[in-house]
Amino acid sequence: MAFFRWANLFIFIFNCFLTATPIFSDSKAIPNFLDLAKEPHVFDWMVDIRRKIHENPEVAYEEFETSKLIREKLDELGIPYKHPVAVTGVIGYIGTGLPPFVALRADMDALLIQEAVEWEHKSKVAGKMHACGHDAHVAMLLGAAKTLKDHEKYFNGTIVLVFQPAEEGARGAKKVLDAGVLENVSAIFGLHLHQKLPLGVVASRPGPLFAGGGLFEAIISGKGGHAACPQQAIDPILAASNVILSLQHIVSRESDPLDPQVLSVATFHGGVALNVIPDSVTIGGTYRVFSRKSSLQMRHRIEQVIISQAAVYRCNATITFFDEEKPFSPPTINDDGLHEYFHSVAKSLLGADKVKDAELVMGSEDFALFQEALPGYFFFLGMEDVSVEHLQAAHSAYYKVNEDVLPYGAALHASLAVNYLAKLSHEVAAVEEKYHDEL
Ligand SMILES: *[C@@H]1O[C@H](CO)[C@@H](O)[C@H](O)[C@H]1NC(C)=O
Ligand SMILES: *[C@@H]1O[C@H](CO)[C@@H](O)[C@H](O)[C@H]1NC(C)=O
Ligand SMILES: *[C@@H]1O[C@H](CO)[C@@H](O)[C@H](O)[C@H]1NC(C)=O
Ligand SMILES: [Zn+2]
Ligand SMILES: [Zn+2]
Repeated sequence: MAFFRWANLFIFIFNCFLTATPIFSDSKAIPNFLDLAKEPHVFDWMVDIRRKIHENPEVAYEEFETSKLIREKLDELGIPYKHPVAVTGVIGYIGTGLPPFVALRADMDALLIQEAVEWEHKSKVAGKMHACGHDAHVAMLLGAAKTLKDHEKYFNGTIVLVFQPAEEGARGAKKVLDAGVLENVSAIFGLHLHQKLPLGVVASRPGPLFAGGGLFEAIISGKGGHAACPQQAIDPILAASNVILSLQHIVSRESDPLDPQVLSVATFHGGVALNVIPDSVTIGGTYRVFSRKSSLQMRHRIEQVIISQAAVYRCNATITFFDEEKPFSPPTINDDGLHEYFHSVAKSLLGADKVKDAELVMGSEDFALFQEALPGYFFFLGMEDVSVEHLQAAHSAYYKVNEDVLPYGAALHASLAVNYLAKLSHEVAAVEEKYHDEL
């Protein structure tokens, strides 16, 4: 008898350490959201949502059915929301409806790719595919919503669910911000699936994570003529060729090697006949940098080099950076304080060995726009299980999601939000106590 009591007590203490350890709250113990999200009624529900969205991929600002499905699920859970926000976006609210506010973000859009994976839930729309895992991102945020709604009494404040359209190059985040729905929000968290990290491993870093990127296009004009008599023409092909070579020296000779930058010329259009020098050539490309300052410097030099180098060959040049249609997308910069916070929550949820440092990524992520407006934190969530298969990178027609990852994403969202609210009320209480003592 006594033995059993001791054993039970031991198991109880052991469980407390393993699972329900409150990190910042000393009021109510915060539940283990990973155990909750692995329960079949949550896991199967997420899998079903993810597969439905996968079968019907919708690209930027056309996520009408995806948005409708999200609203149906929120209705089912009794979670109020705002819609439409940013065309197809949905903003859900869990908690008291009062401050403090903490936001969780999932992107909703698919890509113009023909799915090459043969499986039961293959995309039913020709030429469109969820090849970046945004279908799973939505399912994981809904999974978080489901467990959070069941545990509303564990937090004071409001968790704002951001279902955002148009992440893939169409600045959905900007439209969400412009709608004002993130006013008064203290922090925002977002994640992206990663096919090269093991299942349940997370990775990120303080400061820059994804690069910022901009596009440019230049028209280099000369004077067309017979290719047999170049002395009567002004050759824009030769001018453009030298412009491209000179552009390559901006990164190699001018930028700081410890501040990674890329400049790629990706298009070259000019001429139609093999014996005619054309009037003009159009070239274009992209640059990637890790700060707004580097972006300004890069733009300045791209413009200067193109105009000056074209002039060497008697050509004129005009340049556009698409500031209206496709403006510079800033780098994704993680808040240092939130990095510390993320580490403590993720280690407590997953184990210290599951929390890694990420490398810089030269791609872009429009979560950066949120981070320009409020403190934000973005991280990768691994889903690779080498005992099953090696997964293809995002934007591949062979991209697959290991659905076993869904509870991890849901649990990270939920834990980050609830612990953050607990941390905020703890800080407020500490300040009030201090004030009280001073009185
Ligand atoms: C929420 O606030 C109320 C009133 O201040 C307090 O009684 C309660 O313990 C708080 N709950 C949590 C989970 O912190
Ligand atoms: C933000 O807070 C201010 C001041 O309390 C309030 O006037 C405003 O309506 C709030 N905005 C939102 C979107 O809740
Ligand atoms: C370049 O622009 C100048 C000034 O407008 C013009 O005089 C000249 O003809 C142009 N040259 C070419 C090759 O287009
Ligand atoms: Zn993508
Ligand atoms: Zn993506």
